[in-house]
Amino acid sequence: MCGIVGYVGFRDCSDVLIDSLSKLEYRGYDSAGIAVFEDGKIKDKMQAEHSKPEGHCGIGHTRWATHGEPSDINSHPHGNKRVSIVHNGIIENYKEIKEFLAAQGYGFESQTDTETVAKLLDYYYDGKPLETISRVIAEIRGSYALGIMFRDFPDRVFAVRKNSPLIVGLGEGENFIASDVPAILKYTREYYLLEHNEIAVLSADKVKIYDVHGNMLEKQVQVADWDIDAAEKGGYEHFMLKEIHEQPTAIRTTITPRICEDMVDFSEIGMTDEMLNSYRQIFVVACGTAMHAGMVGKYVIEKLARVPVIVDIASEFRYREPLIEKDDLMILISQSGETADTLAALALAKEVGATTLSIVNVKGSSIARESDMVIYTHAGPEISVASTKAYAVQIAVMYMLAFKLAYAKGKITKDEYVSLVKELKTTPDYLEKILVNTDYCKFVASKLMNASSLLYIGRGLDYALSMEGSLKLKEISYIHSESYAAGELKHGTISLVTEEMPVIAVATQKNLLEKTVSNIKEVKARGAMVVLVCGESLEVENDVADYLIKLPEINDLLMPILACVPLQLLAYYTSVLKGCDVDKPRNLAKSVTVE
Ligand code: F6R
Repeated sequence: MCGIVGYVGFRDCSDVLIDSLSKLEYRGYDSAGIAVFEDGKIKDKMQAEHSKPEGHCGIGHTRWATHGEPSDINSHPHGNKRVSIVHNGIIENYKEIKEFLAAQGYGFESQTDTETVAKLLDYYYDGKPLETISRVIAEIRGSYALGIMFRDFPDRVFAVRKNSPLIVGLGEGENFIASDVPAILKYTREYYLLEHNEIAVLSADKVKIYDVHGNMLEKQVQVADWDIDAAEKGGYEHFMLKEIHEQPTAIRTTITPRICEDMVDFSEIGMTDEMLNSYRQIFVVACGTAMHAGMVGKYVIEKLARVPVIVDIASEFRYREPLIEKDDLMILISQSGETADTLAALALAKEVGATTLSIVNVKGSSIARESDMVIYTHAGPEISVASTKAYAVQIAVMYMLAFKLAYAKGKITKDEYVSLVKELKTTPDYLEKILVNTDYCKFVASKLMNASSLLYIGRGLDYALSMEGSLKLKEISYIHSESYAAGELKHGTISLVTEEMPVIAVATQKNLLEKTVSNIKEVKARGAMVVLVCGESLEVENDVADYLIKLPEINDLLMPILACVPLQLLAYYTSVLKGCDVDKPRNLAKSVTVE
């Protein structure tokens, strides 16, 4: 959460910072601020509507509030006339530091943990920035990506990170820091990744990276393969809608390079069938939408490969003393690759010697770097806070893993394997057809927008999908919704059902159809308005559902790839019709780097 940027070069610094921050708004948008050197002084301007400082070197921040309410006083940058900083992360021991500094006579204006770091830098500052930064990072605990300016160095930006992402963008006569690649794409595609506690010193014509002992380090230049259009709306009203429409391409780009002769090829990560065959059980650990992708993976792996899969919410996994062992495989799923709880679960798995495999969208992110193997999803940057295309590619990778594992285990024949892979390859074509006309979903959304509470129901894979549909709707439309295993309703929840509570039923699995239809009839009998998402061949009596969203039919196992689209669209249009901020729903941030 929070996004930080920094710039030194020949352009108008305020313009660059504000432009770069706009690309990081998905990381938090409670407030924003910049500080720029103007005539050798640090000019600090809260909020872009004030007149902007003029200069060529500065730092900026967009905030997702952790300590202290969203307000001007809590906005970054923090500091004083000598030192100014922006920070992404959480300083766990800020209270002790604050007490110490208060005893030295320092006053504090904000409630933030960041201000204590700024004042600690000031306290230790002796004219030598590198030594000062090293001293401060030796004292602070927690996570941080810091952009720092010292008054005595008006043509330099300093940066350091630990457990929060930070890249150093490399331009011609200009250099950048940023929390994520989209912030710099307009200016350069080349960047360095900073390891924990490496300190970067940027001037217009060079970047130097040091370790905490002051030794200069050689770094490898990374090249972003995302193009600049990927971080723009491209004519769509919202990023979310654009990203929903990008799903066919995202799936193609993710699966095509990993399919060879209609079989899954993970040789890029050195994964052989023997390795896959050797794991005792599989843990899938993730948060939110990524965890829902894990649920789809669980059904498919267990069904095809007959290997037990335990899906866990990362924040729960960590604290329940999980029974994971060295013969187990842990799959971590994360769009950002920075989610704090998922990262911590990864560390725990490594401690016990389990093999870790991450499925991550952001190259060089912490989870990707720290796991034993990484399969990158190639969704391109996902800007909308509500995840759509990242989910689609996560499940596509889970399918590939399931097919490969099932074949490695001898649970499916080569013909079955090849036929499943071939069908997976056709899913983008079907998605394209579904996306040609989204009007009906918009119409159905108009029937949902006034509800105050909704239920999503399904069985098996449809239940996994319902979880995602429900999360999508509630996070962007603010309508309360729950997902339920359809058969579980009558064990309590059905008492909530009235004509006031619409029910979205997902029924794409033919073997469970009859049962699900019975459950739909049960809620219909209690007056609920029912929206049914199902395959096109399903014949249901007229009175079973009020609105039918029919999908082309492919292998049942693969239906979640298609059925996620109407669920995303229902959420999207409900949010639009309600006038909500679709791409930046309240209280949320895209990259959750706090526990
Ligand atoms: C919801 C959503 C979140 C994320 C979750 C994990 O639309 O996007 O639930 O899925 O915060 O984030 P990553 O995938 O970055 O680990």
